Amino acid sequence: MDSEQPDNEMSLCISTNQSGDHKNECLNGEASNDPSKEWLHSLWWQVSNAQEEKNFYDRSAKNYEIMTDQLHWRAPQLCMKTIANWEQKSGITIPRESVAIDIGAGTGLSGVALREIGFTGPVDALEPSANMFALAKQKKIYRDWYGEMLVEGEETTVPGDMYDLAFSVGVFSDRSAKKGSLSEVVRMVKKGGYIAVIMVARHWPEEFRDHIALMEGEGLVKTLQVDAFDSDMYMREVAAVAFVLEKL
Ligand SMILES: C[S@@+](CC[C@H](N)C(=O)[O-])C[C@H]1O[C@@H](n2cnc3c(N)ncnc32)[C@H](O)[C@@H]1O
Repeated sequence: MDSEQPDNEMSLCISTNQSGDHKNECLNGEASNDPSKEWLHSLWWQVSNAQEEKNFYDRSAKNYEIMTDQLHWRAPQLCMKTIANWEQKSGITIPRESVAIDIGAGTGLSGVALREIGFTGPVDALEPSANMFALAKQKKIYRDWYGEMLVEGEETTVPGDMYDLAFSVGVFSDRSAKKGSLSEVVRMVKKGGYIAVIMVARHWPEEFRDHIALMEGEGLVKTLQVDAFDSDMYMREVAAVAFVLEKL
């Protein structure tokens, strides 16, 4: 694996808990007057399963871009940066007319970022929240919409071996799109196609990396790039990890 391992992370709490128990520290710690922090805290510490996450995004769709703007949401651009980093390093360019799927497309900010690096091909969306996707649709980027969730161990109705590129920005976590769901994303991609993901570093524990290693061991994927982004790059006070895999 040609990788740069993440070496730091920070939650939105001011102090960092060495034990890794960020949850309790945040709940018992600072009370914020910042609505965008309150919004993020309620996602992180009050949502614990797939249905709650879908409901959370349905409720907050109309404010999503205001909140993420206040949080300096740069995740979509950083996911594309990791694709570009790998392209530069390898000398290989993913064809810009590729057929792509945006996993957890939200209001379409990730689709906009894909267009910004020159991808012109069709982009489908897997997005469980109808309210979020209603806003994404207005951006006129997406072709087909799958209003479904990734759930570990379950298959979506998205056809297999369909896409040249699957990308996912800010979706994988320990709440609903858990590590095992990465296999479902791999299933959607053609052999020789790519999977690009960016996620909060806190959700990149050993088990997540082990799941990728398992898929590598099975000859399903190869890791091409892993980038760690320091606190504040992905979003205010939040560190992230992005990676690119190739489906073999
Ligand atoms: C942080 S938002 C990111 C949206 C968009 N990708 C962006 O860059 O702004 C996460 C999105 O993932 C969706 N989501 C949450 N859990 C999911 C799951 N298990 N499978 C697919 N999408 C999910 C949510 O509905 C939400 O729209």
